Amino acid sequence: MTRRVGILISGGGSNMLSLVRSMTGDHPARPVFVASNDPGAGGLEKARGLGIQAVAVDHRPFGKDRAAFEAALSEAIAPYEADILCLAGFMRVLTAGFVEPWAGRMLNIHPSLLPKYRGLDTHARAIAAGDTEAGCTVHEVTPALDDGPILGQARVPVLPGDTPGTLAARVLEQEHLLYPAVLRRYAAGDRTPVFLPAPV
Ligand code: GRF
Repeated sequence: MTRRVGILISGGGSNMLSLVRSMTGDHPARPVFVASNDPGAGGLEKARGLGIQAVAVDHRPFGKDRAAFEAALSEAIAPYEADILCLAGFMRVLTAGFVEPWAGRMLNIHPSLLPKYRGLDTHARAIAAGDTEAGCTVHEVTPALDDGPILGQARVPVLPGDTPGTLAARVLEQEHLLYPAVLRRYAAGDRTPVFLPAPV
């Protein structure tokens, strides 16, 4: 049975694009929607350009009421009957109330080698710590932030003179390879982690 994948974004959606473009041919899944908490997110237009249903639920009118925002988001995505949710640059922290119904069916990509550097500013923190290696992680989402079972990682070198921007660009290239590789395996029911070789 072909799995139905929904993708949540907040920004430009480059990870969303690599996921959508990978779900062709004998891939066990197909994208059914792209949703964003920001109606102005560039990725929504890109999704529409690829013929994917694009949904926007603006989080700002809900202020600090995360549960109310999540209830509206759940209502907006329910008609698409997704089996799997992929967080791809989705920058809202989700509560247990939203996460638990998706337990074992929701993935996230994080731009660090978890468990190192949960949260924000991962590249600046890696450089400040003098790390020689950085990377990205795809994990299953649990109520604890950036904490679920790891399903894949890719490593890159931290080079002399790196800025958070240059390191982020190097990591993003790996994100675009890692996330589709993990999703293909995950959608086939295989949770064996994917570890990409360091780029030469
Ligand atoms: C990526 O680096 C992702 O790891 C992080 O936010 C960035 C989003 O990029 N969570 P994009 O919107 O997928 O281009």
